Amino acid sequence: MLDMDENYDAFDDYVMSFDLEEDMIAYKYNHTYRVVHQAEEICRSFNLDTEERDLASLIALLHDIARFKQWSIYKTFSDKDSFDHGDEGVNILFEENLIDKFKLKEEDKKILKTAIKYHNKPLLPNDLSIRETLHSKIIRDADKIDILYAFSTNKLLKVETEDEEISSKVKEEFFKNEPVLKKSVKNKNDRIIMLISLVFDLNYEYSKKRILNEKYLDKILSHTKNKDMFKEYITEAKKYLRKDE
Ligand SMILES: [Fe+2]
Repeated sequence: MLDMDENYDAFDDYVMSFDLEEDMIAYKYNHTYRVVHQAEEICRSFNLDTEERDLASLIALLHDIARFKQWSIYKTFSDKDSFDHGDEGVNILFEENLIDKFKLKEEDKKILKTAIKYHNKPLLPNDLSIRETLHSKIIRDADKIDILYAFSTNKLLKVETEDEEISSKVKEEFFKNEPVLKKSVKNKNDRIIMLISLVFDLNYEYSKKRILNEKYLDKILSHTKNKDMFKEYITEAKKYLRKDE
């Protein structure tokens, strides 16, 4: 069993080297612990053993490690305008050796590395091992649950609607029940649709249920100005989440 308390301390020590007074740094710190909690809940939902659960927690704890550096240097969380934060996370951990501060079994390092590298990529490679796939899927779901939660609180991810039409490519991808691609996004409303479309990339029943039960999608809709424009998307996303019930 990993000593998770020591791992939390090591993470806190690292984050303390950044300015937690900055809202965005504090936001990522809090996001991280919420994602750890969701990753644990996913593991519980299919009775994974403690060792697997501890590894999932550690992956969640470290998945956004590059965000602190990213904000400090570039003042943005846009990977396009800075660096890929999955790749940079692996770099900080394994090239700059931050991983040495964390308790983790030698044989689990590759799994953690893969899960962090691919947590923010559109697709997972199909040549991953069973455990690499499992842990990649857990962190991808846990992260998306929290992005939708944050979006539903409308605190940091301000929903800004204008009169712009949703682009036809975005609409097409969405109604195929596929995650909207970044490159299809042309305006702010498209971006909202892209966020809602994260539901199409969820892997586990727990995640789908969490989003429905906590009413994240209805809350997102309630923050929009042009409800008529977004309603059909929210309805479609909820229909998709209920499909396997
Ligand atoms: Fe994240």
